[in-house]
Amino acid sequence: MSTILVTGGAGFIGANFVYYLLERYPSDRVVCVDSLTYAGNLSTLERALADPRFVFYKQDIRDRAGIDAVFEAEKPDAVVNFAAESHVDRSIESPEIFLETNILGAQVMMDACLAHGNVRFHQVSTDEVYGDLPLDRPDLLFTEDTPLHTSSPYSASKAAADLLTQAYCRTYGLAATISRCSNNYGPYQFPEKFIPLLIANCLADKPLPVYGKGLNVRDWLYVTDHCRAVDLILRRGRIGQVYNIGGHNEMRNIDIARLICRALGKPESLITYVTDRKGHDLRYAIDPEKIHGELGWLPETAFADGIRATVDWYLAHRPWWEAIVSGEYRDYYERMYNDR
Ligand SMILES: NC(=O)c1ccc[n+]([C@@H]2O[C@H](COP(=O)([O-])OP(=O)(O)OC[C@H]3O[C@@H](n4cnc5c(N)ncnc54)[C@H](O)[C@@H]3O)[C@@H](O)[C@H]2O)c1
Repeated sequence: MSTILVTGGAGFIGANFVYYLLERYPSDRVVCVDSLTYAGNLSTLERALADPRFVFYKQDIRDRAGIDAVFEAEKPDAVVNFAAESHVDRSIESPEIFLETNILGAQVMMDACLAHGNVRFHQVSTDEVYGDLPLDRPDLLFTEDTPLHTSSPYSASKAAADLLTQAYCRTYGLAATISRCSNNYGPYQFPEKFIPLLIANCLADKPLPVYGKGLNVRDWLYVTDHCRAVDLILRRGRIGQVYNIGGHNEMRNIDIARLICRALGKPESLITYVTDRKGHDLRYAIDPEKIHGELGWLPETAFADGIRATVDWYLAHRPWWEAIVSGEYRDYYERMYNDR
């Protein structure tokens, strides 16, 4: 039986990864460490909390002593570091917490891995570390060798963590890998992010805010395809390597907004153009050839199916996201733990 420690498991992708592991590996244990920032939602892990193979720690990854105690108690065989401040707009308003969690927090996790017998470490990164590509050069894609060229404090903090991970590999021999994924969508995404925000606003007949003219292009991947890729890298990836993850699925923001209006039977007149984000990256596009060639990974969910499944999920789970919009989700941890 292996024990996998997942940080940031109460967030969007981390929670999907927790469920992926519990479902796919019946003999593995999953330990989740999450400090439950505004983006962490313990109710997302409700089904996992009912599973005896799952343990949750409300724990900040910046806290060395606390992380050390979790390692002592749980003796993980591998760590997957999803925990991060992840919202670009917030990083533009307040960069400091991004540097603390995304860089220093990652360092604490790597130090703990080294101190406990070189525990296998995987750093979850983003294609945003490569900066952006021009809109009129569809032939250009990010490869693992594309120079890092960041645009926001968020992406700069993720790039710094990537470099630190590589330095820990080289200097201390840390058994680490890094993955850089494109934009994810799917169940449990916090409704401040683009796709769930559009769905929630559409359902409430509220304006759908789209930056600039909506021409920015993102390479969208269904979250379960990301989870499967991370799991493959963790188990079969080469130590010290970076793997890009993306689905060759480039979409303009405006086209996504139109698609969601159509899926929910709402008029496109809800779409409202708002002042563009500062330093807004134009286009991201991933070349996933390395992970395909080395590990046989390919995305399994076509965008049309994934977006339909996502819209259906938000329709079927209104209490989940309405509690976030109202702020009520913050009480869940107290109800679960403090009232006992
Ligand atoms: N969302 C995407 O499209 C995308 C794409 C590529 C890579 N990523 C990366 O994947 C990871 C997860 O992204 P997400 O969208 O699920 O983020 P999220 O914001 O939904 O979740 C982040 C989680 O980390 C927790 N957290 C934050 N600071 C913490 C700290 N100091 N200690 C412990 N826990 C802390 C939060 O409580 C939350 O549960 C991030 O590292 C992000 O950079 C995201």
